[in-house]
Amino acid sequence: MTMIALLAGDGIGPEVVAAARRVLDVVAPDLTYEEGLVGGAAYRAQGHPLPPETLDLAHRADAILFGAVGDPAFDALERAMRPEQAILGLRKSLKLFANLRPARLFQGLEDASALKPEIARRIDLVIVRELVGDVYFGDKGRGFTSTGLREGHDLMRYDEVEVARIARVGFETARTRQRRLLSVDKANVLETSQLWRDVVNEVARDYPDVALSHMYVDNAAMQLVRDPGQFDTIVTGNLFGDILSDQASMCAGSIGMLPSAALNHESKGLYEPIHGSAPDIAGQGKANPCATILSAAMMLRHSLDRPDAADRIEAAVAATIAGGARTADLGGNLSTDAMTQGVLATLETA
Ligand code: NAI
Ligand code: MG
Repeated sequence: MTMIALLAGDGIGPEVVAAARRVLDVVAPDLTYEEGLVGGAAYRAQGHPLPPETLDLAHRADAILFGAVGDPAFDALERAMRPEQAILGLRKSLKLFANLRPARLFQGLEDASALKPEIARRIDLVIVRELVGDVYFGDKGRGFTSTGLREGHDLMRYDEVEVARIARVGFETARTRQRRLLSVDKANVLETSQLWRDVVNEVARDYPDVALSHMYVDNAAMQLVRDPGQFDTIVTGNLFGDILSDQASMCAGSIGMLPSAALNHESKGLYEPIHGSAPDIAGQGKANPCATILSAAMMLRHSLDRPDAADRIEAAVAATIAGGARTADLGGNLSTDAMTQGVLATLETA
């Protein structure tokens, strides 16, 4: 029996996770679910954003479908108790070192992109971002210089094992696509990046069928805006990947369309829309459920080995959008429920 942990969280999280669940019930009716409290919802009920029962559930489950965490009511709490700590705690505890963020422009959404329609049309790329290393996890601190100036530091650091394992995910991902992998670094300036480049080149020997190239991160940022159609699969570190993936998402239209996966060495993964809890529209039935529905498709593909069911969902979302269905973020007026109904209806006729 395959069990999915449903961690809906805060704000629009429960609305979009419920929508994805309805779609999953059609394409994979045998899946079972256990719900867990996470984020502000968990803090309210149990005094902690990631209670032990939720962590235990995440470890027991075959995969995790996550909504979003974040609640303005808790913004004044100390950092460790804030709802956002839940997602960081899950990534760390499950050792989810690989973040997959596909960005593609669905047919019909050309005008929603931050780019000119003729450029936007060509976006279909995936960013493979390292998720548990780099400056976010290196030694950090605040202090004073010898002359009494306030000082802060965050150490950028990777070891070869950390680079090799994310490089492999990059090559494997490229193999499922156009077999073109771009590694992004700043090897002209950073020692970390020189190690990164050496190790990626070493791993490349195991993937002679994949065309590897390298690019400096500043150039990559420029090229993403100039001609995103040139990219297929991009592998990069935590900091560069954070920035480039947000940039790519804006090129692809609404934040409400973009799914993500966080993977470890086992088949288990955590799947979530890239957006947050959107407190400004929570409870109004306005949220676009597509990002979470597409995250469920990634879950079927990467954790549950059901690529056919994943393809069905992705085709149904594409056809629904192509047919003109639009929530408010896409310039329309469909509710979360109506958009979900649209995807369900398309699934039934496909
Ligand atoms: P956000 O992504 O929640 O919202 C940004 C804007 O996009 C808002 O105007 C919102 O209405 C809109 N939006 C987001 N998702 C949408 C959807 N599915 N359909 C239609 N419109 C959508 O980012 P924001 O406002 O910076 O953060 C809100 C809260 O979410 C904060 O507490 C933040 O910390 C948290 N957050 C949590 C994340 C997670 O759980 N992984 C990721 C990002 C933010
Ligand atoms: Mg970010």
